[in-house]
Amino acid sequence: QITPVLLCGGSGTRLWPLSRKSYPKQFVPLVGEETLFQASAKRLSGTTETLSFGAPMVLTNADFRFIVTEQLAGAGIDPGAILIEPEGRNTAPAILAAALRQAETDPEAIMLVAPSDHVVPDAAAFHAAVALGLEAVAAGDMVTFGITPTHAETAYGYLELSEKSDGQPVKLSRFVEKPDAARAAEMLAAGTFLWNAGIFLFRAKDMIAAFEALAPGLLAPVKASLAEAKTDLGFLRLSPEHWGGAEDISIDYAVMEKAPNLSVVPFAEAWSDLGGWDAVWRETGPDENGVATSGEATAIDCSNTLLRSESERLEVVGIGLENIMVIAMNDAVLVADMTRAQDVKLAVSALKAKG
Ligand code: GDD
Ligand code: MG
Repeated sequence: QITPVLLCGGSGTRLWPLSRKSYPKQFVPLVGEETLFQASAKRLSGTTETLSFGAPMVLTNADFRFIVTEQLAGAGIDPGAILIEPEGRNTAPAILAAALRQAETDPEAIMLVAPSDHVVPDAAAFHAAVALGLEAVAAGDMVTFGITPTHAETAYGYLELSEKSDGQPVKLSRFVEKPDAARAAEMLAAGTFLWNAGIFLFRAKDMIAAFEALAPGLLAPVKASLAEAKTDLGFLRLSPEHWGGAEDISIDYAVMEKAPNLSVVPFAEAWSDLGGWDAVWRETGPDENGVATSGEATAIDCSNTLLRSESERLEVVGIGLENIMVIAMNDAVLVADMTRAQDVKLAVSALKAKG
């Protein structure tokens, strides 16, 4: 049995104005009717021919705890545990807390850590990839999933394969987190790298051993905040005194870049981390003119355009638009060039600065 670990502490500023600090993108129906969090929880549930998933462990912060329980109930999923982080310290402390908590009852348990804001349309193909990774996990490796890169993206981690893979897991020779543009272009051209999907499969005890070897400073604060955690309405609240002492660092920098025991399973099917409105536009299925609409939105003679109305009171009409995205909410409207999708986070900082 695999314990799914769903990470949903991020704030997703690049999908403003739909994604808000108080209600980030993983909890919003961005593509289809379900939210990304619900779709992720469902993808990692139940029993397939090759896999059996146990109840998920969810890691989030206090603000989102009732959204999490409501949305899990809506998806028909019973959580195993919901861990509340007193504040976001990034993914390394969160994943270590999950592994330590699991190891209290079963250090051999296999865990699958997944972000809750990704789109993976073919769940069966994903399950097959996970099943392929199990053998490497049994041999003590931590398994990552590799996506075929399409451009020199700087927002992802890159996985260098030790040999060409025919779809089977292979040893990783290098993990490079978020390279600069020049480095990313080199790795793309080399043809021996895949993108890190940000999904990790491992035994609880191996992840703990990796922290002991590579990021030992995190063990004391995370262990202590788990030891002094309080149960409250079914949530497990990590103790804030100790949690604050944990370094704010991602699992990629803290562990993955340095770990010797990594394998990668290539995942050739569609995957998107919905890192911007251009990605949402692509996933919404634009028509032959590249137009995608959602809600009360109408496009007339437009091309490569995303028009979304998130309000029943707002009718959005675009005429003759090219490469434009419009996201209309009751209290905010974003109008931007499609090529500037990554700059939407600037809107959030600009508004924050305005107060
Ligand atoms: N519980 C919790 N607490 N979750 C968190 C926290 C935290 O403090 N910080 C981030 N998360 C969640 C986010 O909500 C997201 O679901 C996931 O953890 C990954 O965090 P991101 O902040 O989105 O990471 P990233 O996209 O910059 O980079 C990671 O994912 C890429 C693929 O999407 C890395 O693993 C890259 O190497 C990878 O390519
Ligand atoms: Mg992400």
